[in-house]
Amino acid sequence: MFQGKKILLGVTGSIAAYKSLLLVRLLIKAGATVRVIQTPAARDFVTPLSLATLSKNPVLSDLFAADTWANHVELGRWADILVIAPLSCNTLAKMAAGLCDNLLMATWLSATCPVVLAPAMDEDMWRHPATRANLQRLESFGNKLIPVEKGELASGLFGDGRMAEPETILEFLRATLAASPITNAQDAQGTHTAPLAGKKALVTAGPTYEAIDPVRFIGNHSSGKMGIAIARELAARGAKVHLVLGPSALTIDFPGITLQRVTSADQMFTACLDHFAQTDIAVLSAAVADYTPAVKAPEKIKKNDDTFLLELTRTKDILRTLGSTKKPGQVLVGFALETSGGREYALGKLQSKSADLIVLNSLRDEGAGFGLDTNKITIFGRNGLEKAYEKKPKQQVAADIVDTIVNSLYA
Ligand code: CTP
Repeated sequence: MFQGKKILLGVTGSIAAYKSLLLVRLLIKAGATVRVIQTPAARDFVTPLSLATLSKNPVLSDLFAADTWANHVELGRWADILVIAPLSCNTLAKMAAGLCDNLLMATWLSATCPVVLAPAMDEDMWRHPATRANLQRLESFGNKLIPVEKGELASGLFGDGRMAEPETILEFLRATLAASPITNAQDAQGTHTAPLAGKKALVTAGPTYEAIDPVRFIGNHSSGKMGIAIARELAARGAKVHLVLGPSALTIDFPGITLQRVTSADQMFTACLDHFAQTDIAVLSAAVADYTPAVKAPEKIKKNDDTFLLELTRTKDILRTLGSTKKPGQVLVGFALETSGGREYALGKLQSKSADLIVLNSLRDEGAGFGLDTNKITIFGRNGLEKAYEKKPKQQVAADIVDTIVNSLYA
C-alpha cells in the first residue's frame, strides 16, 4: 500500500514527538518515501539527526536560512499525504488562525494533498473550548483527525489527550490513501494497492440492548472491539464500510467508515437489511440478543412479588436472513462464540445460516473473548477451510479475517 507513496510528516513540540520516530520507521518499513518537517519547538523533544537517519532524508525545519529558501509549495505538492503527528495545542491554534510563521505552517497552507492530524495534549487542554473550536475549524477545512486515546499523560494525570499509537496512525494513513480517488485502485506502476477498492462492506459490532422497561434492559458483555477492528481493516484495504454498532462504549472515526449507531436487535436487523443488497462483503460480528422481552413496559416495573417472570420472544436472526437472500459474489461472514463444542457448532452454522465463513472464538481459550485486546480464532469456510490461528491482538486478528475474505472474494 505504501510502496511508492510520498509521506510528509510534520513533527511539532510535544512529548509525544518520541512516537514520531517509530511512525517514521513503520512508514519506511512499509515502503513509503518519508520527508520530515520539524517545527523549531519539536527540536527540543526529538533530534533532527534521529529523524533524518530513520527517514533517510534530511530533516527540514527553517523557512529560510542565510541564502536558501525552502520551497514549501513544492513540498506541499510533492506529498501524497501530509500528516502532522504529534499536533501540539500551539500548532493547532496557529493552523486555525491561518498563521504562517514556520516551514510547517507554510507547507500546510500550500498543501494540495489530504492532511491528517494526530493531536497530543493534556486532557484539560484537549477539553478546552478553544481547542474544541480549533479542531472543528480544521475539520471544516477537510483535515482529518485521528482521535486521541485515553491513558497516562505527560502530566502524570490519566485521561483523554494521548496521541494515537504509531500503528494506529499507520492504519489511518493506509485507509486515507485507499480512500483517495487518485491512489484508489492502482499505483504509478499499475500495481493493485487496495484489494478492496470499489467494494462495499457491512459490519455489525457490539452488543444489543433489549428494553424491559424504560430503565432496564437485557444486554451482554460484548465491547465491539473485534468488529471495529474488522471495519478498520476493511477500510484500510479500500472498502467503503457501513458499520452498524450496538450500544458499545467505543466509537470510531476513520476514513472510509460510516458509523450507524443502533440499540436493539430489531434496529440492527433493519439497518442490515437496508444495506445488504448493495454490499459485497458482510461481516456480522455483533453479539445480538437471541431473545427480547415480549412486552416492553411503558412505565418502570415496580417490585411486587418474590418472583418475577419475564416472557421473551425470539429476535430475528440477521445472519440467517442475509444468508437466505445472498447473491452469488457476496461474501457473508458470521461469528460463533461458544463455551464448548465449538467446531461442530461452527460447521453447523456454515450450513444453517448459509454463511461463507464462520469465525469461531471460544470463551474457554485464554486471551479470547469480551473486552480483551486479544483474540484466538479458528476460521471455517464453506470450501472446507479450517484454519486455527495463534492468540493475537484484535487488529491482527482482523487482518487474518480480512485476508481470508479477500481470498474468497477473488477465489
Ligand atoms: N446473529 C445475528 N442475528 C441474531 C443473532 C445472531 O445476526 N439475532 C449473528 C451474530 O452476529 C453471529 C452469529 O449470528 O455472527 C452467531 O450465531 P448464533 O446462532 O446466534 O450464535 P449463538 O447465539 O452463539 O448460537 P446458539 O444460540 O445457536 O448456540
